[in-house]
Parts: sequence; C-alpha cells; structure tokens
Amino acid sequence: MASGKILRQLVKAGAVGDTDAFRQASEAIIREERQKQHHLLANDLEQILYGGSQRVISTATRGLSERIPVDQERGLPLLGLRDPARGLEEVVLAEENRQVVEDILEQHHRADVLRSYGLRPVDKILFCGPPGCGKTLTAEVTGTELSLPLALIRLDSVVSSYLGETAANLRKVFDFIDSTPMVALFDEFDALGKERADASEHGELKRVVNAVLQMLDAYQGKSLIIAATNHEGMLDSAIWRRFEEVLVFGLPTREQLAQLLTIKLRGVRRDFELDDEQVLSYFSEMSHADVERVLRHAIKDMILKGEEFLQLRHIEKAQQRELNRKRQLSGV
Ligand SMILES: Nc1ncnc2c1ncn2[C@@H]1O[C@H](COP(=O)(O)OP(=O)(O)OP(=O)(O)O)[C@@H](O)[C@H]1O
Ligand SMILES: [Mg+2]
Repeated sequence: MASGKILRQLVKAGAVGDTDAFRQASEAIIREERQKQHHLLANDLEQILYGGSQRVISTATRGLSERIPVDQERGLPLLGLRDPARGLEEVVLAEENRQVVEDILEQHHRADVLRSYGLRPVDKILFCGPPGCGKTLTAEVTGTELSLPLALIRLDSVVSSYLGETAANLRKVFDFIDSTPMVALFDEFDALGKERADASEHGELKRVVNAVLQMLDAYQGKSLIIAATNHEGMLDSAIWRRFEEVLVFGLPTREQLAQLLTIKLRGVRRDFELDDEQVLSYFSEMSHADVERVLRHAIKDMILKGEEFLQLRHIEKAQQRELNRKRQLSGV
C-alpha cells in the first residue's frame, strides 16, 4: 500500500482540483508499487492515469489544448494533444535505431551547446515500416524523454475539400507547432505521396504537397517534427530529402522478441523461460503490437480462470485466437 504521505497528497490534490499535484502523487504511487514488484497494479494505475479518455493532462498541455487549431469549415480539431507517458525502457528497438534515437535526444537535451556553435538539433525525422512496430510509440517515447507534449496530426483531417482551406489548415498546424516546443507526429504521411503519384491530380492537392514541403523547409522552430508512414515506397525523393534522419522499423528479431516479452510480462508470474524456443516460435512473423495483444489475452485468460501462473497453454490459446482473427480479417 502506498505511504500515508503520498496518499494525503493525492487526496488533497483531488479535493482542490490540482491536476499537476494529482499526477505527481499518482506517479509516486505507481513508482512505489513497481518497487514492491506489484507490476500488475502499477500497470493498471498507469493505464488509468494515462490510458483512458479521462486522461490527466498537465497544466502546460492543458494551456496548449485550449489553442488547438480547428478546420474553419468543419470546426474539427486539426490535431490531437497527448501527455506522453512511456519512456525509452518501454520500447524495443533495433540497435541502430536505438543509437539514432539516443543521439536525437542528446542533441535536444544539449541544444544550447549546439546553438552556441550556430548549429541546430535535428528536427525533421521520418519513421517508416509496417503497422504495429513502434513508430507512434517511439514518437511518444521521444516526447517523454524530452518532457514535451505530443501532437498527433493526421494529414487527412488537414486536407479539406474547400479550395484554399487546406493550405490555411497547414499554416495553422505549423503556427501551432512553432508556438511551443513539442513533438509533432505527422501520421500517415504517405497521404502526400499518394497525391503526387495520382495522375488525375487535382491542382489543389499539388499545391498541398508543395505547401507542406515549403513549410518543412522553412521550419526553424524548437519542436521536433516526426513523419510516419507504412508505405515508404509512396514517398518520392523530394519528400525523403527533407528529413535529416530516417528510421526504418521492422518485425522483431528473435532477440528483440525476447526483450519485448520481458517488458510486456514484467510482474506476471509464469512457469516458462522467456527465451524458450517454443515460446518464441509462437510469435514468429508477428508485429510487436500483435505480440502484445496475444499476451494481453493470455493474461486475461489466466486471471479470469483464477490461475496464478501464466503457462504456455494460455499463450497457445490466445495465439490461436489471434490467427482466427487474422483469417477473418483477411477473409480467408
Ligand atoms: N517496438 C516496440 N516495442 C515495444 N512495444 C511496441 C513496439 N511496437 C509496438 N509496440 C506496442 O504496440 C502498440 C502499437 O504500436 P505503434 O502504435 O507504435 O505502431 P505503429 O508502428 O505506429 O503502427 P501504425 O503504422 O499502425 O501506426 C504500442 O503502443 C506498444 O504498446
Ligand atoms: Mg502509428
């Protein structure tokens, strides 16, 4: 149980509606529970604090969220804001990607030193790779490690059918990113490539592509811009060369899979080794997100059956369910 001091802080923060203090006290409780090896409880608390729709938003992000730009015609927000929560220890990365991420973080942590030499930290990065391999998570981790909010921009919500509105939306998004340091993730960036590849290209869309490229070129702010795509083939060289770093994400190798299982099964009692060949073989050719989903089902199964240890049969059953799900989705 959390210490009386922290519980008092928590209740007091809740009573006076101080969300920053509430968040700090909650995080202290989560840390305490983790130290006591109560990982399931800590994970649950983390999920409640950061995961659901009733997220606790820090004051800085709350101030920002009041200024989120909206599309004038539809009145819809052009981006979503999140307080990132997961840190570098939560993501499994290929060694070369980890080195690049660590280098980017160092450049931002020590931006003042670079600036004193007339240099700027890298601020435009491209993430490529199949779904569920950690592109969005790595953007979140970057935000956490730099203590910056995460803005999620979907290009399809920025593109408007009204003439001239798209360029205005883009301007608003870039002005917003410029206003305060943040990690700005442009998801589904290939939407741009599609427009360029399309022979029946509408003049307005051509202008959108050019406007994005110009804004990327002109961008000199303190935010870190990350573009993510599943279809790197759709991006032409004009887009590629705007990015100083390109990280390619892929399905986990055997070693990365063992690391992923270690992270995702932290605090779960089990009766098998994580680098057991049979265990690893269940997950071959699966993305990190798929592996996570199978493990979640297996753990739920164990809990609901009142069993204390996660066993291979729980995983096998969850894996079978995942295969059926995939078959249904692909209509086989
Ligand atoms: N490399 C990873 N290490 C640890 N967990 C991961 C990793 N990749 C994915 N996950 C888990 O799967 C979830 C979904 O992954 P994520 O959203 O980062 O995928 P993505 O590459 O952005 O996919 P998409 O192309 O569909 O947007 C993450 O929130 C995380 O819990
Ligand atoms: Mg993503």
